[in-house]
Amino acid sequence: MKHIIYHSIACLALLCLAREVVAQEAVELRLDTRKAGAVIHPTMYGLFFEDINFAADGGLYAELVKNRSFDFPQPLMGWKSFGNVKVTRERPLFERNPNHVILSYPGHDHKHTGLENEGFVGMGFKENAAYRFSVWAKNMNPAGPQKIRVELINTRDYILAREEITIDSPGWKKYSVTLRSRSGEPKGRLRVFLASRGSVALEHVSLFPVETYKGRENGLRADLATMLEALEPGIFRFPGGCIVEGTDLATRYNWKNSVGLVENRPVNENRWHYTFADRLFPDYFQSYGLGFYEFFLLSEDIGAEPLPVLSCGLACQFQNNGEECHVPVDALDDYIRDALDLIEFANGDPSTAWGKLRAEMGHPAPFHLKYIAIGNEQWGPEYVTRLAPFVKAIRAKYPAIKIVGSAGPYAEGGLFDYLWPEMKRLNADLVDEHYYKDPAWFLKNAARYDAYDRKGPAVFAGEYACHMPNRANNFASALCEAAFMTGLERNADLVQMATYAPLFAHVEAWQWRPDLIWFDNTRAVATPNYYVQQLFSLNKGTRVMPLTLNGKPATGADGLYASAVRDDGEKCYIVKVVNTAEKERPVQVLLDNLKRGTRLRPEVHVTTLRADGNQENTLDDPAAVTPVTSTLPLNGNAVQFSAPPASFSVYKVAYE
Ligand code: AHR
Repeated sequence: MKHIIYHSIACLALLCLAREVVAQEAVELRLDTRKAGAVIHPTMYGLFFEDINFAADGGLYAELVKNRSFDFPQPLMGWKSFGNVKVTRERPLFERNPNHVILSYPGHDHKHTGLENEGFVGMGFKENAAYRFSVWAKNMNPAGPQKIRVELINTRDYILAREEITIDSPGWKKYSVTLRSRSGEPKGRLRVFLASRGSVALEHVSLFPVETYKGRENGLRADLATMLEALEPGIFRFPGGCIVEGTDLATRYNWKNSVGLVENRPVNENRWHYTFADRLFPDYFQSYGLGFYEFFLLSEDIGAEPLPVLSCGLACQFQNNGEECHVPVDALDDYIRDALDLIEFANGDPSTAWGKLRAEMGHPAPFHLKYIAIGNEQWGPEYVTRLAPFVKAIRAKYPAIKIVGSAGPYAEGGLFDYLWPEMKRLNADLVDEHYYKDPAWFLKNAARYDAYDRKGPAVFAGEYACHMPNRANNFASALCEAAFMTGLERNADLVQMATYAPLFAHVEAWQWRPDLIWFDNTRAVATPNYYVQQLFSLNKGTRVMPLTLNGKPATGADGLYASAVRDDGEKCYIVKVVNTAEKERPVQVLLDNLKRGTRLRPEVHVTTLRADGNQENTLDDPAAVTPVTSTLPLNGNAVQFSAPPASFSVYKVAYE
């Protein structure tokens, strides 16, 4: 007993000493609890989605068949054909995807006619998982019903699943069958044989896992969508990015082509198949199977406000110089109509033309669209003169809709400086800024918004990512983003949305990196950057709180960055601290001026992200950098800790 008492006294003495050391040397951050700042918009942290890096077809969109409707410019791209196969567009079933194939008897019972689809760098099959095969088909043989055989095969041609379908209708009819894969295969293929002696016509050959996000047909990969949901995003921007603009106007993202019957959504060229000559993917097209309806649905499912971006009539300005490449300013009516119709599609009553389509597609209730962006990375007077009539028309018909304009492709410079006052003059509600920059820029710009004009539009940090020399998604890049994001948070009155970009990349089919989430056909991995986004999003709070170091915000002195919020729902203060220095930093956060009667809970919850700078998460080693949680005791009104070298930590103090 005596021993225990002596031991306790010794511990207490050590603890006091340790506290004194901390108190002597610690950096002191003061959080004035009396001065709650701006309300943090629920849209603050969100997602930017673009079909780049096979993010949609071959990625989030769970369809496993590439070129399912045979309407790529080379109609059999993605397919191997054998025997007697003919592509035709005579008497099409779907007028906007007219091609279909006819499989006919090869003339001998020992020969075969059929097709094999390679998927997107193969097809991912999971052991014992079910796959729904469907096809539109017609029997071309008056003598009697025909048969097709459907097989899932692995890389060694071993059959993982096999089923037969009888094609009995002389007219087009949809047939489907479920196949269960007897083993897992990341690079499988689909084979369809004619298994009778006549001929059949096939159209829209499709294969989906039965298990999709929320179990939807025409659904999304469950693992990838669940990772989006786990970020608790407040805003979901879609469908891009440069694909909004198109390399030319004909290939811009046309939302009206992306809704209605899936089979009749015309295939569009994906500009990312040729944008980088050293990363050519000539088989990259947009099926529009993941279209605007599905984007709205996903926004709803993950609890994010939808933010669609539409073409303003300018084809990509990086690739098109002359005015003749764009829609003349006085001929924008169709484009403006697209914007107005989109708002009707999202919000209109089912008695309206576009509201009716939404209802027919399965969602009679409105999607409650509040934001629309016009133009992606546009610049110059050519943008301003085009945006103006959009603003006028949208304001006149839908005054409550908030309009997002662009600050161009760069974070500063002539184009940027020209656009901001113009956005103000046009009364844009938010301005979309993009910055793909090096670590030094991110560290320097933690104070970027401190001095911004508060009377103009708000800021949407719409595309950003820290680009290291090797463009890796390593911990060093994530740490720089965390440091920068303390500045977004401190300025949450102005910065109302922020979205890292791009979101997804297939490990074998990417064009651009870094990206937030990497995947192959069966697996996905969250990058350190993902965890930074998640820590901000899940701890976004409801009010900004002033947090100062020697009377000023902590924006990088000696490598220390910090911000604070209060969460009125959860009743807690949340302090985020980034230490970019290579040495440990004793820190104490003082919760000053607590209201009389406020009781702070004695335990501080801590989440820390920490690793070597060049550490990455990979599909084979997905948890190399993950947040670690712990607790520490509160000392009176002080949170005392030692910020580990090169670390990002979130401290949560609950109050009653
Ligand atoms: O995110 C990749 C590209 O970067 C986007 O398409 C474009 O807006 C930006 O240039």
